[in-house]
Amino acid sequence: MYRLLGKAAAALALGAVIAYVHPISAADQNAPPVPPKQAEGPAPEPLSMDELKKPMKPLERANMAAKGTLKNPYTDNPEAIAQGKKLYFGKSCNGCHGGGGGGGMCPPLTNTVWVYGDTDDTLFRLISMGSDELKKHGYSRKGTEGVVGPMPPFGELIDSDQDVWKIIAWIRTVFAGGPERRHW
Ligand code: HEC
Repeated sequence: MYRLLGKAAAALALGAVIAYVHPISAADQNAPPVPPKQAEGPAPEPLSMDELKKPMKPLERANMAAKGTLKNPYTDNPEAIAQGKKLYFGKSCNGCHGGGGGGGMCPPLTNTVWVYGDTDDTLFRLISMGSDELKKHGYSRKGTEGVVGPMPPFGELIDSDQDVWKIIAWIRTVFAGGPERRHW
């Protein structure tokens, strides 16, 4: 009788541990990013760099590309980074995120928390469609920075997807998380 009770108590304790551990691991920013849910079938091939360098309206690009297939063709390109920095200020991103990307009223772009994930694909869609629309496309907040407001859509305010990529190339340079946390 006591042995049975002991087992039941152990099972309960284990359940409590699992229930306790789960929300913490789900919020762990260092865990590898969970890829966005795909339809049935194999993951689509990423677009080629040549294709990605053909200018297109940002929303057109977001709509034509399957989730997870967008990749920044300008990462680490010094000329593009300089242009991206100008665009960042030209489009008033700094009004919310601050001049060094370090956050103002809005999430900092420098730290290791990426609200919807850190991939090029996610950042491109977030900037182009805004966070309300992004969520309608099946993306959800993985991290939170105590900000409840949405990120406005810039797909109509930025002429070309090339410019969105250049801005992202600049944002990558202000990331202060160190090379081991760089997954792009
Ligand atoms: C009106 C304020 C506002 C402006 C202007 C704005 N953003 Fe944002 N941005 C936000 C908010 C709020 C979030 C967080 C959204 C959420 O949690 O759903 C965000 C999130 C982001 C993120 C994700 C940050 C992270 O840590 O995951 C990036 C990248 C970003 N914005 C880039 C830009 C760029 C580039 C521009 C200019 C083209 C811009 N933002 C203009 C408010 C703004």
